[in-house]
Amino acid sequence: MTSSLLTAKNLTFGYDDVPILKNIFLKIEAGEFIGLIGPNGSGKSTLLKLLAGILDAPAHSIYFKQNDIRQVPRKRLAQSIAWTPQEQNLAFSFKNSEVVLMGRHPHLSLFTMESEKDFAIAQKAMETTHTLPFADRYFNEISGGEKQRVLIASAVAQEPEMMALDEPTSALDIKYQMQILEILKHLNEDKNTTIILAMHDLHLASKFCKRLVLLDNGKIVRDGPPDKVLEPGILEEVYNIDIKLYRDPNGGVLVSPLLSDLSSTAEFE
Ligand SMILES: Nc1ncnc2c1ncn2[C@@H]1O[C@H](COP(=O)(O)OP(=O)(O)O)[C@@H](O)[C@H]1O
Ligand SMILES: [Mg+2]
Repeated sequence: MTSSLLTAKNLTFGYDDVPILKNIFLKIEAGEFIGLIGPNGSGKSTLLKLLAGILDAPAHSIYFKQNDIRQVPRKRLAQSIAWTPQEQNLAFSFKNSEVVLMGRHPHLSLFTMESEKDFAIAQKAMETTHTLPFADRYFNEISGGEKQRVLIASAVAQEPEMMALDEPTSALDIKYQMQILEILKHLNEDKNTTIILAMHDLHLASKFCKRLVLLDNGKIVRDGPPDKVLEPGILEEVYNIDIKLYRDPNGGVLVSPLLSDLSSTAEFE
């Protein structure tokens, strides 16, 4: 019997006394490709940070390979789970090549310098993510889309079992969105890297993710294959807009928001 990679069991979490995530049950098996969707503020980033061990989870609520995540040493966790943040305004005054090389740190012993092998892995990660052209420029001097790709390169260099990526495609044009999602698809298919990513583009999510988890107001309201999760009724309820769905002949579900009654535009005149 295979044991799951990560399991959230009745996870409730808030930053203050107010719960943000409520009674979350989520089982992630090795090799899955999961899209976390839901409106702004529904708790996607918070859930990803808890799963990746960036935020401390309450006791007995998240298990990494059947161990309470709180008992797993940070370094061990960082060797297995890469996380990329949603915001790219990190004050990194490092060269992009150095940011990528940092992905190797969980694998180094204390006071050990990176080896030739680490440099080679970082170089390969930059090739894969098409970030070599700005390897020698500084992280805070490149565009939002370029930053996202550098952060993904760093996660690739980490060679993790699982990647938790927070809106990795939101600052990218359609070509780079596809490119990043295809890189993740290859890592998933060729290296069995488990992927969980938050994203807003429901059409692209349905094309690439084998499973979608829909969050609304801190609760999982749907969890399953894209065509079972992306249904007009639930989407209209969660996003509070009228929606029509079409089957994309090239795979996935096209989510088309309907124009609302614009009689209120008078207010803008
Ligand atoms: N560091 C924080 N301190 C307090 N509240 C936070 C913090 N981060 C997020 N929140 C709140 O938690 C809720 C969920 O936020 P978040 O997980 O970022 O949602 P999403 O990623 O789906 O937009 C929001 O109401 C947000 O204001
Ligand atoms: Mg977020």
